[in-house]
Amino acid sequence: MVKDYKIIDHTYDVVIVGAGGAGLRAALGMSAAGLSTACITKVFPTRSHTVSAQGGICAALDNMGDGDHWKYHMYDTVKGSDWLGDQDAIEYMCRNAMSSVIELEHLGVPFSRNDEGKIFQRQFGGHTVRKGEAMARRACAAADRTGHAILHTLYQQCLKHKTKFFIEYFALDLIMDEEGSCRGVMAWCLEDGTLHRFSAHMVVIATGGYGRAYFSCTGAHTCTGDGNGMVLRAGLPLQDMEFIQFHPTGIYGAGCLITEGVRGEGGYLTNSEGERFMERYAPKAKDLASRDVVSRACTIEIHEGRGCGPNKDFVLLHLEHLDPHLIHERLPGIAETASIFGGVDVTKEPIPVLPTVHYNMGGIPTNYHAEVINPTSKDPDRVVQGLMAIGEAACVSVHGANRLGANSLLDLVVFGRAAALRAAELIKSNSSHKPLAKDAGSEAIARFDRLRNSKGSKPTANILKDMQKTMQAHCSVFRKEEILKTGIEKMQNVIDSMKDIKVSDRSMIWNTDLVEALELENLLGQSLASLHSAVARQESRGAHARDDFPERDDDKWLKHTVAWVDEQKVRLDYRPVHLNTLTDEVESVPLAKRVY
Ligand code: FUM
Repeated sequence: MVKDYKIIDHTYDVVIVGAGGAGLRAALGMSAAGLSTACITKVFPTRSHTVSAQGGICAALDNMGDGDHWKYHMYDTVKGSDWLGDQDAIEYMCRNAMSSVIELEHLGVPFSRNDEGKIFQRQFGGHTVRKGEAMARRACAAADRTGHAILHTLYQQCLKHKTKFFIEYFALDLIMDEEGSCRGVMAWCLEDGTLHRFSAHMVVIATGGYGRAYFSCTGAHTCTGDGNGMVLRAGLPLQDMEFIQFHPTGIYGAGCLITEGVRGEGGYLTNSEGERFMERYAPKAKDLASRDVVSRACTIEIHEGRGCGPNKDFVLLHLEHLDPHLIHERLPGIAETASIFGGVDVTKEPIPVLPTVHYNMGGIPTNYHAEVINPTSKDPDRVVQGLMAIGEAACVSVHGANRLGANSLLDLVVFGRAAALRAAELIKSNSSHKPLAKDAGSEAIARFDRLRNSKGSKPTANILKDMQKTMQAHCSVFRKEEILKTGIEKMQNVIDSMKDIKVSDRSMIWNTDLVEALELENLLGQSLASLHSAVARQESRGAHARDDFPERDDDKWLKHTVAWVDEQKVRLDYRPVHLNTLTDEVESVPLAKRVY
């Protein structure tokens, strides 16, 4: 072990890294199943990014009488994914959606109510009944604070079931053995500066997305994809990293989210000519087309000179025509956010918005049991023993090339639950652990020590900004080979500049200087994987829009990208999309052109 560091050892059946919706749902299920369950989190659980999810969680409950069914939900999700989603996993998610939401209700989530007293549901983009015939009200909502309501409820339930929380612990690296199985995780306690080695039968990564690779995003500053960084350093791949979702309505300048629920309640977008431009791009679904379509439309309007404001660089989101009572009851959160961050009274004037990075469809490849996959040419579905991933950190893949709104909260709870069910099958509670190698975790401590003692000249914040500006300019809504390739060159320079990083604070207690350096290292690997995956995919599909390859090309590109990153070297490979369903009860959704 690296000298001067004392390590505290812990042993649990399962260790979950991350306490957002996915991590907490898994923790609840695992604890309730009698497994000794630890949950490590760098922020207080109810400060996890799930807290900011606004508009809703999808389930075909049909509480609003649209004639909804989970098979329509499945159809919409496959179509929304531009056929890159794995249809077995999508069937699993949509089929389990209703029971998962009712379970949340029974656990105590205070959902809004319709006139009959049932869970209120609103429209979201791309959600329809009878395969696109009419829009469906499918997003179950607690006003526009749905994530907040779910996260608090799940945390309380975890406490009730005696999950052991390690709060404000920063996970450093996975502990892998010679056979390539995961055996545990190393972590640093920010509060008292101690280092910890957790041994577990199963480690579950639930660390969320990596939106902060970009300069402007709706994600919290903590969204640095730490689990994905750990996975890359463990020699495992990330999947479909080129697919990055831009939400059409981030507040101009601030980047804060204005929920799609606004358009679900009747809000609409206009350009500088006052035109409802979505009618041209998606004649049927209009403002409620899927997110990639609306984001591209906003970007084209701005590029073609029809943006608003002195610099013609945003569009307007209107809800001033809606009844103020409705805004007060169903959209109170965004009214407050628009006032604080946009200086706008939404009952009187429109909100200046523009497409803003919101979600990563890519992440750690898993099957629908949440087990991590490390594919080989012989076995594209090969499971990594002892490791699971859930939530935005994972790529199941239920979102494929583009996620539908309100399918993210659903993904969190359905696959958090699936992970718990699988762990209960695989692990005998309190069964003995093979001893860890004597030096287990020493590489993680050496990396930690190297960063902690960096004496270069470049502050972390400068390198971070270089990375974010590169991603913003070179891996944006529209992409092109030369722009992406320049992005790779720039990113390599940014990574090189890490040799000259300056960490000024050497202390072990609440050293945010060092936390930010560790987060930056995690983000850099993911940024590089995204750029390489994007330049390689010579087609347009979902959120990956190539100016130089404007069509979807199923003959060549109906496959998942898998990327391994070793230092600066990226190796790409591909694995097949699961076009099969899970049961005979539903047929696969056949390939078709995606129009809204
Ligand atoms: O617009 C929204 O409320 C975001 C929802 C989501 O990303 O699922």
